[in-house]
Amino acid sequence: MKPDGAAGLKGDETNSNTQTMPQPRQYRLVLLGAPGVGKGTQAELLAERFGAYHLSTGDLFRAVKMSKDERELTPTMARALEYMNAGKLVPDETVLALVAEHAKDVPRGKGFLLDGFPRTVAQAEALENALEKHHVTLDAVLNYELPLPEIVARLSGRRTCPKCKRVYHIEARPPKREGICDDCGVELFQRDDDRPETIRVRMEAYEKNTAPLTDFYRRKGLLISISAGATPAVTFERTLEALGAVVERQAV
Ligand code: AP5
Repeated sequence: MKPDGAAGLKGDETNSNTQTMPQPRQYRLVLLGAPGVGKGTQAELLAERFGAYHLSTGDLFRAVKMSKDERELTPTMARALEYMNAGKLVPDETVLALVAEHAKDVPRGKGFLLDGFPRTVAQAEALENALEKHHVTLDAVLNYELPLPEIVARLSGRRTCPKCKRVYHIEARPPKREGICDDCGVELFQRDDDRPETIRVRMEAYEKNTAPLTDFYRRKGLLISISAGATPAVTFERTLEALGAVVERQAV
């Protein structure tokens, strides 16, 4: 998605078209949940429905890792790559700088979907400060929930398009032609962090660093928990219902 000026995660300006044509509502959302719960899948569906800007820090990191020419990386990306190559977690400071580089791409007046960010309380506090500076508030934080065995099954069957980043599942959301992206026609790949031994490490990191975010956002009255145990389409319906309740609450 291309920027339409130096907008960033900024305020409530609306497009002049809104006076003549009904525009989809612009939601500003954070998507939370354990690895593999389906955040990226729901973000994809929400972006399609509302035209919101989808920012996935996981996708940003994978793009940095897969970059063929390190000279194309910004200094922040190069710093992130150094940590990843050393097998270390990318520290909050670098993540925040990376998000700031991309935040300016959010088109003015558009909604946004933050997927995989924030991932720690420190990142959530920094996001809050940045949004406050631009007089922007989050509409809700959607917290997707699923038991661990189902998560493991989802992760081990995941396949991703290297070009458009569309996410498939070999059983639950298969491409029309096995192993090939419906949109790009290129071969799908399996993420190297979807191996059983890596999944356990990711779940531990989630429990330690990210799970505390549910309390953080519950205290702020933003948290909405959604059961992610159904098909992507049914989970999306649940998401839309939850957003409907947000709109009603905001109207009071
Ligand atoms: P990231 O890519 O964000 O990984 P994650 O949070 O672990 O989440 P996933 O992408 O694995 O899962 P998802 O919930 O999006 O599920 P999906 O929709 O794909 O981050 C990767 C790594 O980067 C992290 O581990 C961390 O190291 C680093 N990182 C990222 N952000 C960071 C940050 N802010 N700070 C520091 N480090 C950071 O679905 C999974 C599968 O299930 C798919 O195959 C899908 O088709 C299928 N599926 C989805 N929904 C359903 C359904 N309803 N029914 C059946 N199957 C379904």
